[in-house]
Amino acid sequence: MTRRIGMGLVGPGFVGAHHIDAVRRLGYVDVVAIAASSDASARKKAEALGVPKAYGSYQALVADPDVHVVHNTTPNYLHVPVVRAALAARKHVISDKPLAVTPADARLLLDAANEARVVHAVTFNYRGNPLVQQAREMIAAGDIGHVHFVHGAYLQDWLLQPTDFSWRLEPEKGGASSAVGDIGSHWCDLVQHVVGQRIVEVLADLTTVIGTRLKPAASTEAFSRGGDEERQPVAIESEDLATILLRFDGGAKGSVSVGQVCAGHKNGLWFEASGRTGSLRWDQERQNDLWIGRRDGPNAVLPKDPSLLVPAARRYAHLPGGHQEAWADAFCNVMRDVYGFIAEGRQMSDHRPPAFASFEDGYHSACVVDAVLESHRRGAVWTRVGEEATVR
Ligand SMILES: NC(=O)c1ccc[n+]([C@@H]2O[C@H](COP(=O)([O-])OP(=O)(O)OC[C@H]3O[C@@H](n4cnc5c(N)ncnc54)[C@H](O)[C@@H]3O)[C@@H](O)[C@H]2O)c1
Repeated sequence: MTRRIGMGLVGPGFVGAHHIDAVRRLGYVDVVAIAASSDASARKKAEALGVPKAYGSYQALVADPDVHVVHNTTPNYLHVPVVRAALAARKHVISDKPLAVTPADARLLLDAANEARVVHAVTFNYRGNPLVQQAREMIAAGDIGHVHFVHGAYLQDWLLQPTDFSWRLEPEKGGASSAVGDIGSHWCDLVQHVVGQRIVEVLADLTTVIGTRLKPAASTEAFSRGGDEERQPVAIESEDLATILLRFDGGAKGSVSVGQVCAGHKNGLWFEASGRTGSLRWDQERQNDLWIGRRDGPNAVLPKDPSLLVPAARRYAHLPGGHQEAWADAFCNVMRDVYGFIAEGRQMSDHRPPAFASFEDGYHSACVVDAVLESHRRGAVWTRVGEEATVR
């Protein structure tokens, strides 16, 4: 029988509940404890989520011997202390993105994780979609030829009104970047993963469309509509809209639009990769279809039907064709890859399954976001991605 693995989660908010759901579906993981910002809120959340132990501090959770894997789903500014504490206790860590809001902090966590010799992962969860893995396999097999162009967008509308507010917009909590760090980071990780080329240079033009927001006196849930509560005007410095040109190490060029102020777009993440013999397009709002574009033959739409997928992608699909799979299923696929690795007692130097993004990927993501900010600061000039983003 597989050894049971104890999971503890710090930060039981919007995405924390999905981490808990996902690991419960694996069958051999026990959700042992959660930690929130106070004893009272931890107890309330633990009761709502059916978790046996509740802690008012992350220090108490990481010290619990029944917790083998610590999940970090706190607001961004707490990622460094929470992850460091878990690593100091030699627990495996699954951190939500962004790993950290500066390259230096992300590097610190990567080094600490390697030193602790534990399993470390970042939830770039769109990797867990079966048709994302299908696209990745097709590109690796040369089905569309060498990729020369990658473009797309990640657009949302939940920050369109001045009354929409989130800790993500406060630099001391969310980091210097808002939209790019929050969702652009997903897009960049995804296309690099699918195409097999890394982003090495960026040219960015960032905009703050809503320059003053009305912050509610009490904190509100992310993605909720603002009501009539008491509010204070707050000047916003971070971007809610971005246009970015990209250069990849394999020679591909590209562009991405990122915005959280685009009416009608809820979670509009899509990309298209074009090679010499074909193009592939995937849109997470229509995630059960993969568009295949050809010049010398008819275009096609490949449905998420396990019988039509290559074997490496088929293992990410769990329902027959015609049964839609979605965000939560892909999230669970990420957990399956990471926990399978932990259960087999593997080391980070071993070969990892594809939906498993590590702190190394989290560090690279922090470097891309930093280069985007630096490019914009310098007046939209080509900027190299690296720990110290450099202007070309
Ligand atoms: N992978 C994804 O698709 C995805 C989606 C949403 C959020 N995220 C990431 O997950 C993280 C959390 O985002 P969210 O939308 O769930 O935010 P949220 O505000 O809904 O949840 C954060 C939770 O952390 C708790 N918290 C605050 N201080 C704490 C402390 N000191 N100790 C313990 N808990 C504390 C809050 O009370 C809240 O319950 C962010 O880093 C975000 O970028 C990732």
